[in-house]
Amino acid sequence: MIIAPSILAGDFSKFASELKRVEKTGSEWVHLDVMDGHFVPNLTFGPQVLANARPHSSLFFDTHLMCSKPGILLEPFAKAGADLITVHVELEDRVSSLLWGIRSLEKQVGLAINPPTSIEEVKPFLDKVDLLLVMTVNPGFGGQSFIEECVPKIQQVYEWRKEMGLNFRIEVDGGVNLTTAAECARVGADTFVAGSALFGERSLTRAVKKMHKVVSRVNSGFNK
Ligand code: DX5
Ligand code: ZN
Repeated sequence: MIIAPSILAGDFSKFASELKRVEKTGSEWVHLDVMDGHFVPNLTFGPQVLANARPHSSLFFDTHLMCSKPGILLEPFAKAGADLITVHVELEDRVSSLLWGIRSLEKQVGLAINPPTSIEEVKPFLDKVDLLLVMTVNPGFGGQSFIEECVPKIQQVYEWRKEMGLNFRIEVDGGVNLTTAAECARVGADTFVAGSALFGERSLTRAVKKMHKVVSRVNSGFNK
């Protein structure tokens, strides 16, 4: 079980030290939200910020591209030090070549799906990904409420993964707190992005450890 604190909830004026703070929690991943002001109504940062941060961190850079034209960003983000790059299934006929593009840059391949999109859309790509990200809010902003209707999608992906004998990670992102993380773990999620629920606590380390404990407990019952 992996907890990926989302830097979106951190302080962007001290990006590198926020990464250090995440690293000190014992978490191996950090979730990096890249927004282009077009695919989503918000803007964050580009590859230069990641490249500057890279020497300060040995965290696994879980890079979530919420961008209309991610094709032009794959190589810059790969060079900047992303470890995994996720693009959205809503990009339709471009998805195949984007996934191939990420793979050819020798990065792990992620595919994300927004709440209104049918889960059937990701099925043809499951054998090509290392991670499937089920969005549990409409992307763009931190601090939104978890959309319960997304839970069956996690379960469906979990079933397909079993049926197909695949082993990609199942990640959830948006409104993830102790309660909703447990709910997602119960139906098969193994990777949990959380922003405000973690950074909003006095001790980030304690918050991460607590979430890890909660989802691991669910998981150990789940696999019996
Ligand atoms: C939402 C982003 C998330 C965001 C989650 O558009 O993709 O990664 O940081 O934030 P919380 O956990 O606050 O919902
Ligand atoms: Zn995200």
